[in-house]
Amino acid sequence: MPRKVNYGLDYDDDYDDNYDEYDYGYEVDENAETPPQKETIKHSVWRCSICTYDNDETMSSCDICGVLHGPLLNNSIYDKKRTANIFDLKSSRVSSTVVGRDEAVKVSSMRSDSSNQSTEKGKHNRLDEINILKNIEVGPPAGSRTSDNCSASVQEGWLGHVDESSVAVNLRSSGKSSLSLMPKERNVMVDDSSSSRNGGEANSLTSNLENISFAAKSRHSNDAKPGRAISRAQYKPEKWMLPEKAEHSLTQLNLAIVGHVDSGKSTLSGRLLHLLGRISQKEMHKYEKEAKLQGKGSFAYAWALDESAEERERGITMTVAVAYFDSKRYHVVVLDSPGHKDFVPNMITGATQADASILVIDASIGSFEAGMDGTKGQTREHAQLIRSFGVDQLIVAVNKMDAVDYSKERFDLIISQLGAFLRSCGFKDSSVSWIPLSAVENQNLVSAPSDFRLSWYLGPNLLDAIDSFQPPTREFSKPLIMPICDVIKSPSQGQVSACGKLEAGAVRSGSKVLVMPSATIATVRSLERDSQACPIGRAGDNIAVSLNGIDGNHVMAGGVLCHPDFPIAFAKHLELKVLVLDGATPILIGSQLEFHIHHAKEAARVARISFLLDSKTGKVVKKAPRCILAKQSAVVEVILQEAVCVEEFSKCKVLGRVFLRTLGRTVAVGIVTRIVEEQQ
Ligand code: GTP
Ligand code: MG
Repeated sequence: MPRKVNYGLDYDDDYDDNYDEYDYGYEVDENAETPPQKETIKHSVWRCSICTYDNDETMSSCDICGVLHGPLLNNSIYDKKRTANIFDLKSSRVSSTVVGRDEAVKVSSMRSDSSNQSTEKGKHNRLDEINILKNIEVGPPAGSRTSDNCSASVQEGWLGHVDESSVAVNLRSSGKSSLSLMPKERNVMVDDSSSSRNGGEANSLTSNLENISFAAKSRHSNDAKPGRAISRAQYKPEKWMLPEKAEHSLTQLNLAIVGHVDSGKSTLSGRLLHLLGRISQKEMHKYEKEAKLQGKGSFAYAWALDESAEERERGITMTVAVAYFDSKRYHVVVLDSPGHKDFVPNMITGATQADASILVIDASIGSFEAGMDGTKGQTREHAQLIRSFGVDQLIVAVNKMDAVDYSKERFDLIISQLGAFLRSCGFKDSSVSWIPLSAVENQNLVSAPSDFRLSWYLGPNLLDAIDSFQPPTREFSKPLIMPICDVIKSPSQGQVSACGKLEAGAVRSGSKVLVMPSATIATVRSLERDSQACPIGRAGDNIAVSLNGIDGNHVMAGGVLCHPDFPIAFAKHLELKVLVLDGATPILIGSQLEFHIHHAKEAARVARISFLLDSKTGKVVKKAPRCILAKQSAVVEVILQEAVCVEEFSKCKVLGRVFLRTLGRTVAVGIVTRIVEEQQ
């Protein structure tokens, strides 16, 4: 089935210890996010079937991950079925809690350590686990550059050492040819590179951040290093790099499926694939049988995407699954994201490659509300993240409508509450479609609803709504950029392949590419797209690039393939413009954060807060503030523990968009406005 990718650490908890010693200068409820784990179920508590946290019986949803306690559905016919399912689930999930949460982390990482060679299994091409340590020795990048000057900030020396240890990047993928799953393209990154998608609009999380983005652009048009900027602009693509007009192939659309835990993302994806013939009847029967045997009959469709034993046992998606189907207009790459808060880093690495997104909402009473919860719900965080990835076309799939008797009132209430929030994230009303549906009862997915209770809905079905997306803009005529999301090594054959989404330019067999950050030139030996050999990869394609003439240790996830004449930067001291998200803890000088950029993740320390900006106009309102509070935007300097491949946002959006996280939550989104000091 789909290829699975496990990017970075599974659990954010691994970082938590590092923050404990830091004096934030304000009151922090240290137990708020990491309550003590209890080993036994007490009478006055109920154990979350997802994260195994023991909640007080008065809590209707899990204090840690927001999963509901017991069925909260109304009295529709489906209630009985659903209740039974939940009962089954709860009993079986609770049995899995014999392994505590911490142990689960170990199991997960051990598993990803276990194998690193692709093998053939019957007719299926399975790409097994790969584990790459980021802190391998790498040489200096080619094309080192001097840092440019910015009138608005002052470069400082090293302001402190980040204690956090290097982070291992574990990547795992597997694929089945039956779904034409591409060998590892799993997480390619997302969104556009140097030019904006869909109308040239700067992609940013909120209207506030949009101001910041535009401001950054204009400022940097003056600051840009002339030599590099001019030569990049003067780049002339060769003829083969541009798609021929005669080509009638479907446009590829990377579609991220996101939303709160248990909202039905995998079920919806599996059902869609089945309806569109990507999962055979025979395979479906197999999933149904196996799921039933494990007491998880309701997860049969989700099992098409949730491949691993742990995912199936726990009933949650942990890593992004990639699958494909064709609609009338698009070759759709489905990126089924995990909804659980512990796996947001995995969601980020998958969803960063999205051209458009489906935000799945659980319409059940209490579930929609849990997803919208400011601190525990993932609906808001996912919506904010995908908007900041540059995704501006969204379908809100209001799922599980069967659980609310296909109530129009419930649907309208969700539109009014979530719609206001999406607007505040910067989504335009005209770019958001609202589709009521039921994945389990197959209502409104690929054809008009058959249930009379949904007769009030006269809009398009889900598949038609997907076809209504505007085609993404591609950077065909720019120099090559492919952030590496995954690496496949076959030591026996001495082969190494870099997987990812081509953000700009094109490659074919024989092309020379510069592999960053090792700054090694390699030759493209062959390309694969959707598990099939292909002659040329162009911007927008998810491909696996097999490389010759390079040591496998010099190709790593989080790195970038680029044009040898246009090396991208490698730096650890950066100036950012950030917007602190609603409800986030304040960011102070010295705050230690997780820094996410394309497929790289590093420990970062806030070295300087240069300016506080007016969030509407982007103008400086205060110099050198002590901290940045929620909803405020600011110019900051960060120093990373290890350098990352990076570009200023004004030059390359995909390599210049960042996310700052701490204590398991995304606290700020931003853009790179200046590379203060480049690594030599
Ligand atoms: P994570 O990936 O872990 O965040 O979960 P998910 O969003 O992928 O949810 P999943 O598909 O695993 O489904 C969770 C539960 O919701 C399963 O028991 C499904 O059967 C149930 N479910 C999914 N879609 C529907 C629906 O349309 N109606 C009802 N009543 N239940 C549904
Ligand atoms: Mg899922």
